[in-house]
Amino acid sequence: MKELNNYIRKNILSLTPYSSARDEYSGVDGVFLDANENPFGNLNRYPDPYQKILKGKISDLKSVDINNIFVGNGSDEIIDLCFRVFCEPGLDNVIICHPTYGMYEVLANINNIKILKVALKYGFELDLDAILNMAKKSNGKGKTKMIIVCSPNNPSGNYMENVETLVENFDGIVLVDEAYIDFTDKPSLKSKIKEHNNLIVSQTFSKAWGLAAARVGMAFADEKIISFLNKVKPPYNVSEINQNAAIEAIDNVENFENNKRIILEQKDFLINELLMIPLVEKIYPSDANFILVKVNDAATVFNKLKENNVVVRNRDSVVNNCIRITVGSPEENKELIRVLKSF
Ligand SMILES: Cc1ncc(COP(=O)(O)O)c(C=O)c1O
Repeated sequence: MKELNNYIRKNILSLTPYSSARDEYSGVDGVFLDANENPFGNLNRYPDPYQKILKGKISDLKSVDINNIFVGNGSDEIIDLCFRVFCEPGLDNVIICHPTYGMYEVLANINNIKILKVALKYGFELDLDAILNMAKKSNGKGKTKMIIVCSPNNPSGNYMENVETLVENFDGIVLVDEAYIDFTDKPSLKSKIKEHNNLIVSQTFSKAWGLAAARVGMAFADEKIISFLNKVKPPYNVSEINQNAAIEAIDNVENFENNKRIILEQKDFLINELLMIPLVEKIYPSDANFILVKVNDAATVFNKLKENNVVVRNRDSVVNNCIRITVGSPEENKELIRVLKSF
């Protein structure tokens, strides 16, 4: 086990967090005159700051102890909080594995944390040696405090193998962003958080659960890490409406399974159809709900699709001549294929 105190920013280690009215009295019955709330209405009370009912449901669903769960306003909030808990602005750095989800770099820039990029290998696999060497090399005054791995990776779509090797060998935090993990049968690293106290696994209700508008993300980690995320987060970071949306979704797990099945069937449909279209040069293997497609000319294909009201993501700036296509509904996918065939 690692000494977590070495990874946490000094000012955060000694931080006295805000104590909300609901921190000081957490009972549900009573005459509540302590939070300057309005006595009238349905949404007049502040939500549970620790989302206990939702966490109970997540705990059963994911087989993770409630004390090892953090709920954020989307997983983007969780990633941001990790920067703020672990990385000293202007001093420390974080390693990301390029090409990957663009928000890591943006959040690093907002927090004034340097980003070091290690290129993914052929097939978008992790270059474990290069990552660990980079972490060792940059161990001067500021340190590499965190390695962020996106698995399945956005935009390439592949699940990352051997992440545990990084967790074991890196003297710092490994944050594994599993936003798309529900779309694959490959294992989540959440089952490893008891073995590795420097591992944080984030997941989300935005993708396979279909709740992007509700902004609910979750992190699984050692209790001490969860306690520091709780210290730094805004007191009521997930609204009651959004907590309830996630609770309802979990209570209706058949709907989740059904939609996921359709999306995965549609992914196969899209891949088969795309392979028959001459402008498609390559389709990268995907463990997610999107596919990275190499075409003859990404800008032209992107623009022509847009002219026909089909919006995909042009990823040419990160992977040469590639577009990223999200798997849509059967009707949306048919429309995409119809338009592509009409070029
Ligand atoms: C890899 C990855 N992580 C996180 C997110 C953001 O997730 P959330 O909606 O939970 O903030 C996205 C959104 O596209 C993503 O692609």
